[in-house]
Amino acid sequence: MAGNLLTMRRWRRKYYDIFAKFYDWVIRVHSGDVSERLREFLVKKASIKDGMRVIDLCTGTGSVAVKVKILCPRACVYGIDFSKGMLKKAMEKSKDINWILATAAFLPIKDQSIDVVLCSHAFYELKGAERFWTLGEIKRVLKPEGKFLLMEHEVPKNRLIRMLYYIRIFSMGFYDGIGFIKREMDVLKLFFRKVEKLSSPTGRSKLILGVK
Ligand SMILES: C[S@@+](CC[C@H](N)C(=O)[O-])C[C@H]1O[C@@H](n2cnc3c(N)ncnc32)[C@H](O)[C@@H]1O
Repeated sequence: MAGNLLTMRRWRRKYYDIFAKFYDWVIRVHSGDVSERLREFLVKKASIKDGMRVIDLCTGTGSVAVKVKILCPRACVYGIDFSKGMLKKAMEKSKDINWILATAAFLPIKDQSIDVVLCSHAFYELKGAERFWTLGEIKRVLKPEGKFLLMEHEVPKNRLIRMLYYIRIFSMGFYDGIGFIKREMDVLKLFFRKVEKLSSPTGRSKLILGVK
């Protein structure tokens, strides 16, 4: 199945293989210090302790995984992504993280072996069945009481920006995405015992916490 899923999303992976060269620069210019504050907020909310095993899912160039290692040096961190280009950039940032090339919907990780799964600004890129398989995989790898923390852009309040936001989601091939965003809490409740939503310090992103 992993092979098929990687083929299904070939263009998306190729897009990220190329975008990897500019990704950190674009994020820095676009959001300045905001993305750093958000990453710190996300990691702190996860309450990661020494010895915990943590996955940064769809890690991209690894910024969240690296933040975990800085704040919790004794955590065992896995950064997982399906783009070789993004992972190559991530590897340049740290040798103390286990970088894994895999699709989110098929994790090469043992059942109930992980304390925390983080996913920052990537979950909305998954579509249809892939999204459900991914949630199933996250639940499978988490220990009982393990946490899933999902950070995403909040739906913009301004009408014009909201329209651009929906166009972006649509253009990513995420045709059922808008429906998902409207009922994401209900979907997550199918997989997690407890689900709650928190605002980020900037108010422009949201954090959803699911507890197994
Ligand atoms: C917008 S970037 C976010 C990267 C990082 N989490 C951050 O906050 O900077 C989205 C990442 O998700 C990865 N991605 C998208 N779909 C994926 C999938 N099905 N499996 C694994 N990685 C995926 C892309 O390769 C890309 O690196």
